[in-house]
Amino acid sequence: MESHPIIVEDLTKKFGDFTAVDHVSFYVNRGEVYGWLGPNGAGKTTTIRMLLGLLRPTSGRAEVLGFDPATQAKAMQAHVGYMSQLFTLYNDLTARENIRFYGLAYGLSRRKLRRREAQIIEMADLKGRENVLTRNLSGGWKQRLALGCAIVHEPQVVFLDEPTAGVDPISRREFWELIYLMAQQGVTVLVTTHYMDEAELCQRVGFLSHGKLVALDTPARLKETQMRGHVLEVSTPDADAAMRTLKTAQREGRLPLQEVALYGSQVHVVVPDVAELKPALAALLAADGVPVTAISWIAPSLEDVFIATVKHSEGV
Ligand SMILES: Nc1ncnc2c1ncn2[C@@H]1O[C@H](COP(=O)(O)OP(=O)(O)OP(=O)(O)O)[C@@H](O)[C@H]1O
Ligand SMILES: [Mg+2]
Repeated sequence: MESHPIIVEDLTKKFGDFTAVDHVSFYVNRGEVYGWLGPNGAGKTTTIRMLLGLLRPTSGRAEVLGFDPATQAKAMQAHVGYMSQLFTLYNDLTARENIRFYGLAYGLSRRKLRRREAQIIEMADLKGRENVLTRNLSGGWKQRLALGCAIVHEPQVVFLDEPTAGVDPISRREFWELIYLMAQQGVTVLVTTHYMDEAELCQRVGFLSHGKLVALDTPARLKETQMRGHVLEVSTPDADAAMRTLKTAQREGRLPLQEVALYGSQVHVVVPDVAELKPALAALLAADGVPVTAISWIAPSLEDVFIATVKHSEGV
């Protein structure tokens, strides 16, 4: 059996007394799009830095394409790609020149570089813009060009660290189409994100909280297994007032509300029992004079699941 392109066992990174990555274990399949979801400071980038061989683990081990990043980073480099939120493109170079520059840095032959240039321009939908200065490309083009540069050497594993931060929703969608195009060609993708809609697009998602991997599965399975309650969605023209009333009731323990969270213009309340709590919520809000248009029992979103899982892992 072919071994997994990414294997992580008990990986831990401490900075002094502070544990940034805490005994994390997972593997990624070939051609899989694996997501890493976690709040700021959860340890996502630190994990990637160890997988790239830039940072030595305090304990535990990793294997990328059979290489140990801690000791074989140089040999591994030709086979992995990396793109971060703060990707570096040269603004004074044209789109084509950027691809060329990265290709030469990776030691590609002229012939291979010409082939890759054409492929990347095609892939990133940059036809007709090859000779535009990068500074004059809009966000979405730049970002697709940056991905092209990160994979100019045809890596088998690609690490994308918040690659779509600050990019508009349509460009983000197009970017994800590119990610899946790569994966279909057998490239293994580890991608970190803050965006729930992007986490939904991953084949499997790991939830990271304070350096710990607190859940790992497909988005659908996470929704089935991680929720220890039901989600009631309160629709109201005054979400602030509803939040105040519900939070107070939760704090005072008047109703068993596991979670109260603002969700767009609505409020999501996680409860242990729908039959009992749905009328109880309606009565509570009515008593406080909060206008309510509907209370509906809904399927949990990945965000509901994420909040519930992280809170549970923190023992809240
Ligand atoms: N070199 C370092 N020395 C000390 N602490 C560090 C160092 N690098 C990272 N940290 C800390 O480790 C924790 C994890 O950081 P990391 O950058 O991995 O988080 P992240 O999940 O990538 O967050 P973000 O979503 O903000 O990018 C943070 O608290 C950070 O301050
Ligand atoms: Mg980070």
